[in-house]
Amino acid sequence: MDIIKSTLNIGCEKPFTFLHVSDIHLTETDENDSLARKEFAAARKRGFSFSLSTINFIKDYVRKTGYTLINTGDMLDFITPKNLLIAREFVKDTNMIMCTGNHEYWNCPNNRFHYDDIQQTHAQRDSTLDKVEKALGIDVRFSCREINGVNLVCIDDSNYNITQEDFEKLKKVEAGGKPILLFMHIPLDSEHIQINHEFPLNAPKQYFKDCHPLVAKERTSDELTCYICDYIRHSPLIKCVFSGHMHYNKEIIGLDSQDQIITGINTIREITVI
Ligand SMILES: [Fe+2]
Repeated sequence: MDIIKSTLNIGCEKPFTFLHVSDIHLTETDENDSLARKEFAAARKRGFSFSLSTINFIKDYVRKTGYTLINTGDMLDFITPKNLLIAREFVKDTNMIMCTGNHEYWNCPNNRFHYDDIQQTHAQRDSTLDKVEKALGIDVRFSCREINGVNLVCIDDSNYNITQEDFEKLKKVEAGGKPILLFMHIPLDSEHIQINHEFPLNAPKQYFKDCHPLVAKERTSDELTCYICDYIRHSPLIKCVFSGHMHYNKEIIGLDSQDQIITGINTIREITVI
């Protein structure tokens, strides 16, 4: 587990520290799951064998430090009753706030991540996220927690789009005039993201040329989201955007019109805001 400690200078009146984690990717099953489901989970677990120990490490770290925890999604790799149960306990133990990742709405009824399931997955996205929110007991599409006069805002961009409704909520927080740290699963596109250029939000279409057409379509933001990305980049009150999705750590500070901190797997960022 990597612990990365850093300081973020936004000129806040009273310094505070928070923790940021992302992409835990739980792959647990129990007696409610079929053999095929268990085999699928076991195969996925090969890539995410760390997830349970990560959960326990973070729980201990939060208990030890008492810092606020923010999770930028993909806590579940796909939905199982056991994953939801673990996530619910994790929310209860840590009191975290979270924005959904793209994996929170992959039900995987056919026990696979496959192009042929993309349409159905997206069609059922809202109802799937309703189910996840009910199980976890938190809103994973929009939430805000104020610490020492700074608003920590989680917003859903997990399907490469941000809704008008969530944008209005962000603007309402902004109207309060306090600085904002914005948390979302998918980072804003930046030339300083040097690998997996096709993953960020509002990435130029040239990066999708080798993608399956359905994946390219999935990653193409609508007009409103392109506008919101510009808005976020130039908002004087949004001081930094925190995200995950890329599975590696990256800091883009003082290089673009908006600062970004991307948190990878197996990592706790401990950020002191001054
Ligand atoms: Fe992920």
